[in-house]
Amino acid sequence: MTIQWFPGHMTRARRQIQDKLKLIDIVIELLDARVPLSSRNPMIDEVLQGKPRLIVLNKSDLADASATEQWKAYFQHEGHVCLAVDSSTGSHIDEIPQKAKEILQVMIAKQQAKGMNPRAVRGLIVGIPNVGKSTLINRLAGRNIAATGDKPGVTKGQQWIKVGSEMELLDTPGILWPKFEDQQVGYRLAMTGAIKEQVLHIDDIAFYTIRELLDRYWAVLKERYGLDMDKPDDPENNEVIVSVMEEIGRKRGCLVSGGHVDLEKASGIILRDLRAGKLGRITLEMPYDDMPVREQ
Ligand code: G4P
Repeated sequence: MTIQWFPGHMTRARRQIQDKLKLIDIVIELLDARVPLSSRNPMIDEVLQGKPRLIVLNKSDLADASATEQWKAYFQHEGHVCLAVDSSTGSHIDEIPQKAKEILQVMIAKQQAKGMNPRAVRGLIVGIPNVGKSTLINRLAGRNIAATGDKPGVTKGQQWIKVGSEMELLDTPGILWPKFEDQQVGYRLAMTGAIKEQVLHIDDIAFYTIRELLDRYWAVLKERYGLDMDKPDDPENNEVIVSVMEEIGRKRGCLVSGGHVDLEKASGIILRDLRAGKLGRITLEMPYDDMPVREQ
């Protein structure tokens, strides 16, 4: 589902999160491990008003493992605690309560010093649409709680979900908007499926995908589609990119009358493969421009 983020929606989403901040001890900021910056809200520091935060890189099953390690180091360098998880299988999500307690150790120690029994840590999951908030909440709860495809501006009664004995989560996540005014961010989110094809045309998204993959992930493309081409010298050249898309289309039998390639069909295949992880584990952006992604 695509949410139109008009200024009114942003203000409402922000107000809803800030109302919830009063109820919780810690925010779990969920990012997509394949595009940690593009899936990040541009005003996150302002919205969270200094609330303690755990950064969780979700969908790490689809991301390049060595790139994820570099992202973890980057966020740690920025002063955050950061964890990589896969909410679809639940891998590493059991570390979330422990990490939250580590971040809140001063608060917990103060409670103990006052003779209070430390209560369960209270958390709120926040993130842009499709980053996996509902999937993570359902996994942590061990049952279906959060409806997927949630909307900003829709309120319902809030409940606490128990995550073991040491953590409670608000059942409704905080929905944030992406930095969509940046064209590169928009395309990267579309490539990963966070922005749907009604907003950007499928051919354009696939074109951008091939452009991004051509240099760093050429071997992956060649192997997946059995391409009979050498790695192009100029991966930024539009004609080269289209010729690779056409070759993929030919290899996949996407032909129309006259032997022409049906680029829309080929584009659909490329995007489905990328999003399902069939091209392998791919990270589309790195913390620093000079940090190369591992060659595959
Ligand atoms: P949201 O609440 O933040 O909007 O996201 P949601 O949980 O609905 O997840 C969006 C899609 O991402 C879902 O796919 C979900 O299964 C998938 N997903 C969530 N976490 C992970 C993960 O760690 N790894 C992988 N591989 N996938 C994950 P979907 O139901 O197929 O939705 P869609 O593709 O039709 O949008």
